[in-house]
Amino acid sequence: MRTIVALPGDGIGKVVLAESIRLLEKAGFEANYVWGDIGWDYWCQEGNALPQRTIDLIKEHKIALFGAITSKPKDAAEKELAPELKGKGYVYFSPIVSLRQHFNLDICIRPCLSFKGNPLNFIRKSADGGYEEPLVDTVIFRQNTEGLYAGVEWTNPPKNVRDALETHTKMKFFKDVPSEDMAVSTRIITRNAAQRIIRAAFEYADKYGYNNVTVCEKPNVLRETSGMMVQEAKKISKDFPHIAMWDTNIDAQMMWLTKNPEDYGVIVAENMFGDIISDGFAGLVGGLGFACSANIGDEYAVFEPTHGSAPKYEKLVPSIVNPIAMFMSACMMLDHIGENETANKIRKAIAKVVEEGKFRTYDMMKLRGNAEVFNFGAVSTIDLTDAVIAKL
Ligand code: NAI
Ligand code: MG
Repeated sequence: MRTIVALPGDGIGKVVLAESIRLLEKAGFEANYVWGDIGWDYWCQEGNALPQRTIDLIKEHKIALFGAITSKPKDAAEKELAPELKGKGYVYFSPIVSLRQHFNLDICIRPCLSFKGNPLNFIRKSADGGYEEPLVDTVIFRQNTEGLYAGVEWTNPPKNVRDALETHTKMKFFKDVPSEDMAVSTRIITRNAAQRIIRAAFEYADKYGYNNVTVCEKPNVLRETSGMMVQEAKKISKDFPHIAMWDTNIDAQMMWLTKNPEDYGVIVAENMFGDIISDGFAGLVGGLGFACSANIGDEYAVFEPTHGSAPKYEKLVPSIVNPIAMFMSACMMLDHIGENETANKIRKAIAKVVEEGKFRTYDMMKLRGNAEVFNFGAVSTIDLTDAVIAKL
């Protein structure tokens, strides 16, 4: 039997993960779950939000399902550290960013699929004055380890960095700015990582029948990094002659998002651009309660909803949050390990529940989230899970 590392994390991560595992079991997926420690409590008690024992578990079992964690700014992190650990040099790092880097989970996949009947679906006005609701089915491939989020950055760059920068002719515009008044974040793209994310995007399009792949960058301005992405995409696209390759600029893409989202199949981009585009598309299909994701490397894979720990709802019992983003992430895990049939069964059950509209969490009813939502007909996280289980 397969072993899955279950990483609940903080806040609503705990409830959505528990409900997903209940759903997986009811859908007939047989697995052992080993529970891994991750998140804020472990930072506070041990000075490490991602303890070594959790890394070891993932090393051993290779596949993890992850809920969500809480991150806080530097001074809050310092303040909540156990008294005996204070002043000992512990520095907070986001455990999900650490996971991606540690296991080189460089391929991030974020499918954005509209469910029929979801009241949160994007609609637009049609030419005849009526409304239309285009079916969005776009999968974003985000480079997960490099680019602007790689963390190579300085405020007040040290002299050797400043000197290196000065070798670029464009630095003449900054020549009078003292280093202490300068902040620099670098955007590093390596050819190997660019090729990997682009190839993964084309292979996915090929496997799941999407007829276009869009490279969304800005090569006219970011001539080097975006330039490399587009160049490599042009080469790789030759191996997939039946798939159209488009390239768009990130700014224009955000505009086209609401004009013709149904035209886009797979989109591939650098880390930050991919983050932006995937949130944009998620907004068209219901937002955070529906946004699922996978972080995949050669050997390891971690599946998680895009949302965070929603601390303002963590104390509500029963929980009001929408578990569908986590369910869809679990389905991505099933696809990854070849359990496509079970994944499709679960996705169909979710689709039926959303379309029927008898059971809706507060977000689908466009309510403000609080304990009162049940009075307006919203259902709990557990009730929604039961509704999906009933449709399996
Ligand atoms: P968030 O995603 O936790 O919540 C944003 C808002 O979205 C919430 O107020 C809630 O209204 C809604 N929401 C989120 N998930 C929902 C669900 N399943 N169903 C219904 N509504 C949902 O992001 P926020 O508030 O910016 O951050 C809260 C904490 O989560 C922070 O500590 C942050 O660092 C962390 N975070 C962790 C992530 C991760 O674990 N991968 C990702 C994003 C944030
Ligand atoms: Mg984001």
